[in-house]
Amino acid sequence: MLDRLDQQPADALLALIKMYEADTRPDKIDLGVGVYRTADGGTPVFRAIKQAEKRLVDTQGTKAYLGPEGDMGFVRALMPHVLGDAGNRDGRIDGMQTPGGTGAVRLAVALAQKAGVRNLLMGVPSWPNHKQILDDCGVTTVTFDHACEDGSADMGALREALGKAGKDDAVLLHGACHNPTGVDYTNEQWDEIADLLGETGALPIIDLAYQGLGDGMEEDAYGVRKVIASVPEALVAYSCDKNFGLYRDRVGALYVMGANADETVRIMSNAASLARANWSMPPDHGGASVRLILEDEDLTADWLDELASMRERIGAVRAKLAEAGTAGAVDLTKLGAQKGMFAMLPVSKEQVERLRKDHGVYMAGSGRINVAGLTMGNIDAFVAALADVTG
Ligand code: LMR
Repeated sequence: MLDRLDQQPADALLALIKMYEADTRPDKIDLGVGVYRTADGGTPVFRAIKQAEKRLVDTQGTKAYLGPEGDMGFVRALMPHVLGDAGNRDGRIDGMQTPGGTGAVRLAVALAQKAGVRNLLMGVPSWPNHKQILDDCGVTTVTFDHACEDGSADMGALREALGKAGKDDAVLLHGACHNPTGVDYTNEQWDEIADLLGETGALPIIDLAYQGLGDGMEEDAYGVRKVIASVPEALVAYSCDKNFGLYRDRVGALYVMGANADETVRIMSNAASLARANWSMPPDHGGASVRLILEDEDLTADWLDELASMRERIGAVRAKLAEAGTAGAVDLTKLGAQKGMFAMLPVSKEQVERLRKDHGVYMAGSGRINVAGLTMGNIDAFVAALADVTG
């Protein structure tokens, strides 16, 4: 029977990790998968995570099951950082731990699907796994352009898409640090989006996977908090992979908001049963480490400090790229104002391949680069390589 299965291509982004590792050139540059790198090119464990992990080893008395909702101490401690100080809005907001942000997006889309969503609107380009999750959940996807040529968000396309949507539709939005374009909505645009969502009744599903890597923890939460304050129902998929550096430990959360507390209880019961059927319960270690940080003022301050230095480094790399002006046919000036780890370059698949083969520069075939893979020491080489293949 299993012989009927067709060969599937390897995930292009994840395949780059192995190709990069196999390359023996000492000056190779990894701009592929979205992993933060320091000025030395490393991805160390956060200081606060190391401390929390030590504490966890010393204090954790059991590894017995928790349940599909995972570590609710983690979920509740994280909530004010994500959604602000407004509390659970009279029981309208609740949440559960998920295996990474992917698990949270998966659960959000599965909930929408179970509730009978008609169309799921999604700006493109988007993180490639979004479409894969939507297809796997069997929802109908309707796309609209996310960004304009000038490097700003395409509000006209979003307006038009939401104009045709109603209460049976949902829209997937990136909360901050858009992946792959780096093109975020401004606060004024979020105000308009919140109004549009209120008017149309479409369900917002907000994916917030890079909070703190754009303008700051509070600043990057503007959109999510504005939407939450303006609509009756919302789903927020959260990832701690990047802002706590926990990638492989798979730490995420899904926050749900219903129109009233009873509805939220019902939504959560569906989320719990879908989680149980999918992964039963999330892995504990990373979430428990985040909880220990958030329960401790000093560890929280140290985590925020390290996060701020990451954000500053990404900003400095962006500024230097923008300063370079152009590289061959590529205008780099727009990258300075964009947010987070990613940017899209107008390069062809052939040019991406030449960058890899001739220059040891690894990036996604779509033209996406992970800005955090660049350092002050290799930007010039990257710009020269880009000029070579596009000039
Ligand atoms: C990325 O887009 O590179 C990251 O979100 C990692 C992933 O899982 O794809």
